[in-house]
Amino acid sequence: MRVLSGIQPTGRFHWGNYFGAIRQYISLQNNDQAFYFIADLHALTTIRDADLLREYTREAAIDMLALGLDPSHATLFRQSDIPEVTELTWLLMTITNMSTLEKCHAYKDKKAKGLTADAGLFTYPVLMAADILLYDSNIVPVGADQVQHIEVTRDLAQRFNSIYSEVLVLPEASVLDQSAKVPGTDGEKMSKSYGNVIEIFEAPKKLRKKIMSIKTDSTPVEDPKDPDTCSVFTLYKLFASPEEQQALADRYRAGGMGYGEAKQQLYDAAMEYFSEARARREKLADNPATIDDILQQGAQVAREKGREVLDRVRSACGL
Ligand code: ADP
Ligand code: TRP
Repeated sequence: MRVLSGIQPTGRFHWGNYFGAIRQYISLQNNDQAFYFIADLHALTTIRDADLLREYTREAAIDMLALGLDPSHATLFRQSDIPEVTELTWLLMTITNMSTLEKCHAYKDKKAKGLTADAGLFTYPVLMAADILLYDSNIVPVGADQVQHIEVTRDLAQRFNSIYSEVLVLPEASVLDQSAKVPGTDGEKMSKSYGNVIEIFEAPKKLRKKIMSIKTDSTPVEDPKDPDTCSVFTLYKLFASPEEQQALADRYRAGGMGYGEAKQQLYDAAMEYFSEARARREKLADNPATIDDILQQGAQVAREKGREVLDRVRSACGL
C-alpha cells in the first residue's frame, strides 16, 4: 500500500502546517511504502527567486526530518529530482479537458480576482496528478482544499485507462483532520498569505514576541475571561495535556489573570513541545551532507518506481 503526499516549499513551516498536515504525514510513515516529497516544481508558480526557492526547499527537508520523518521508514525526496514526473505531466495533459482545469480552484480564484494566470497555474492539477500516478499511489493524505485535485487525478487515470489500457492505479484521498483550524496571530486561519503565522522553528526571542502579539479582547485583568473564544487558549490546547488545558481554562474563568500570563504559558508549552525537534534540527542543520544524502537516496528509490510506471504509460500510448 503506497501512501504519498507532497508539500510546497513556499515559506518556513508554521504551526498550521504542522498540526494540519505534517504531524499526520509523520504518523503515517510506518505504512509500508510512504513517499513524501517537497513540491518545488509547484512552488515555481509562486516563488520566482532562485536562492529563496533553494533555501525553502532545503529548510523544508530539514524541518520534516527534525519533526520526526524517519528516512528508514519513509522515502523523502524533491519533486524536481524526478524528471519522469514532467514527462508524465505532458502525457496526461494530452487527455485533459480544458473545462476540467477551468473548474479547479487555484486558477478559478485567481481569475475571479481579475489577475492573469499563467499556464503553470492552469495546469497545476495535472502536475499534481502526475505526482500521484507516477508511483502507483493508493492513499493520498491531503487537506480538504486539495480533494478536488485528487478527483481530477482519478478522472485522468480513468480516462487514460479507458483510452489506452489499464496501466494507472486509481488513488483515494484521505482527508486530514483539520477540523480545528489553527488560528494565526490575528485570530484568522493561520496562513502565509495572511502574514499571521507562527513558525515552528522561530528563534525563541522572536517566537515570544510573536506570541505576545496575538490579538486578544480588552477584558480587564481582574474580570473572568472566556477561554473558548480566545486564540491564545485555542493554540495552547494544541500543546497541552487535558489536565493542563483544564487548569488554564479555570484560571481564565476565575478572573485575575491577564492575557500576558496565558501567552507566557503558551510560549512555555510550545517551547517544550518542540524541544526535541529543535535539538534534532540544530544537528541536521550542521550536517548539510546528511540532508543531501537523504534526498538523493530518496530520489533514487522514487525514480526507480517512477521509471517503471512511466515505461508502462509510454508503451501504452505508443511511444
Ligand atoms: P499556507 O496557507 O500557509 O500557504 P499551505 O497551503 O502551504 O499553507 O498548507 C500546507 C498544508 O498545511 C495543507 O495541508 C494545509 O491545509 C495545512 N494548513 C495550512 N494552514 C493551516 C491551518 N491554519 N490550520 C490547519 N491546517 C493548515
Ligand atoms: N498541491 C498540494 C498543496 O498545495 C501539494 C502537492 C503537490 C501534493 N503535489 C501533490 C499533495 C501530490 C499530494 C499529492 O498542498
